[in-house]
Amino acid sequence: MVSYDLLTYSGHMASLADVLNHPNHTFVHGDIADEAGVRAAFADHDIDGVIHLAAESHVDRSIVDPTGFVRTNVVGTVVLLQEAMRAWGDRDDVRFHHVSTDEVFGSLGANGLFDEGSPYQPSSPYSASKAAADHCVRAWGTTYGLPVVITNCTNNYGPYQFPEKLIPVVITRALAGEPVPVYGTGENVRDWLFVEDHCEALVLVFEQGRTGATYLIGGEAEAANDDLVKMVLDELDIARGLAPGSSRHLIRHVTDRPGHDQRYAMDISRVRSELGWKPSVTLPDGLARTVRWYLDHPDWIEACQSDDHRSFRDAWYGER
Ligand code: TYD
Repeated sequence: MVSYDLLTYSGHMASLADVLNHPNHTFVHGDIADEAGVRAAFADHDIDGVIHLAAESHVDRSIVDPTGFVRTNVVGTVVLLQEAMRAWGDRDDVRFHHVSTDEVFGSLGANGLFDEGSPYQPSSPYSASKAAADHCVRAWGTTYGLPVVITNCTNNYGPYQFPEKLIPVVITRALAGEPVPVYGTGENVRDWLFVEDHCEALVLVFEQGRTGATYLIGGEAEAANDDLVKMVLDELDIARGLAPGSSRHLIRHVTDRPGHDQRYAMDISRVRSELGWKPSVTLPDGLARTVRWYLDHPDWIEACQSDDHRSFRDAWYGER
């Protein structure tokens, strides 16, 4: 197995500690939008499958710097598709799996679920770039016969998540005694998928999914942001031997994110019936495991504090 990663502001080698010394694993430092680098990776290693997870994924950053998102998420995906085709020719024992997001479908109201036939209606530069990538992957399958498969997942959470996404923002800010920012009314709803459940689903789809198909992956664990933030803070209190509720005073409702989608939720019946997958970690259990992991990894949190991260965070939250 080869991990190909640019190690931008949100990636560092400490996150690969568990696999770096594994005899079946090789790390290659590279940019998916760099044709020569991707071509060399295909040439140097006997690659017969790609699980493409490399993306700029933080919506707030996409609002401030959309061009970088188009470069990595759209151009990078097309470079990977082209180089996979170049390396594989018309082999049919290979697979290109694109890992995407529920955000390509836009926003739901109070009721209903996205399914594999939902129309694409992205709201943010991030989701528009992932939608474009999904369209390219499907088009390369249809036009060139590249054996592709796509998964769209709900909000991931768990160990090693960069502290720009909601749950690690809450944990790291509360640990530092800083205010915890909740956008707008706090009534926006997300479906939360524990990262290890997601990984199991990815392996199943990669190995057994139908070529050309899309599978939606969700945690079936919806929560409004206000409720979720309280759950995380209470877990943190319990883990630190404090009375649950002690940290809730840190919550601040701040200016909303522009174009903020109201709700995402998935109908996961296809992956359930075809591949037998369903989420196994409940939201309370997953949050408890996540909180415990961050408490046990202060050095990892410290390693995330680059100038790039700090300056974006200070400017973004400073305006709210
Ligand atoms: P996020 O983790 O950025 O994921 P996404 O936007 O892809 O769903 O945000 C999850 C939800 O939390 C979303 O409704 C925005 C909200 N949010 C806050 O209220 N405060 C924050 O500081 C962040 C980062 C997100």
